[in-house]
Amino acid sequence: MEKEKLISELEELRKIYNKGESIIIPALWRAQEIYGYLSDEALEVLSSQLNITKEKLLQVATFYHFFHTKPVGKYHIHICTNISCMLSGAYEVVKTLKNELNVDENEITPDGLFSWEEIECIGLCDKPVAGFINRYRLTNLNPENIKEVLKNPEKYAPEKPKIELI
Ligand code: FES
Repeated sequence: MEKEKLISELEELRKIYNKGESIIIPALWRAQEIYGYLSDEALEVLSSQLNITKEKLLQVATFYHFFHTKPVGKYHIHICTNISCMLSGAYEVVKTLKNELNVDENEITPDGLFSWEEIECIGLCDKPVAGFINRYRLTNLNPENIKEVLKNPEKYAPEKPKIELI
């Protein structure tokens, strides 16, 4: 089912990203959204459909922090712990996440819903503590509002549009 969905969405993406290898990043995004992570099957489908080697796809995917080659929770939360965010309480937010979810960094909650990890600066230093839930930005985080994010993750990370012009 995922395979068919990805193949059909690649056809749509090809209409937009039709120059050189410009399709790689959006195709990796869609594969990740459909499969939850870049599984072997997802990479094989991309490779055969796009005629790009699996090795090349993996080179791109592993260069960027936001692509996952191992399973993550349905909602994966990144928290920046670099200087600006750290001084604004990033580790309090991390501690709250850890306590609320009862899993360590890069572990998945038993219901499959959440996982989290620390990241380096994401350029939102003026709105610390900053992070992401899936591909959506989170700013001005603190131990209280991160709990709100956990209660209503779909509000902060809604279903993605089928095609994005980015
Ligand atoms: S230090 Fe956290 S976004 Fe820059």
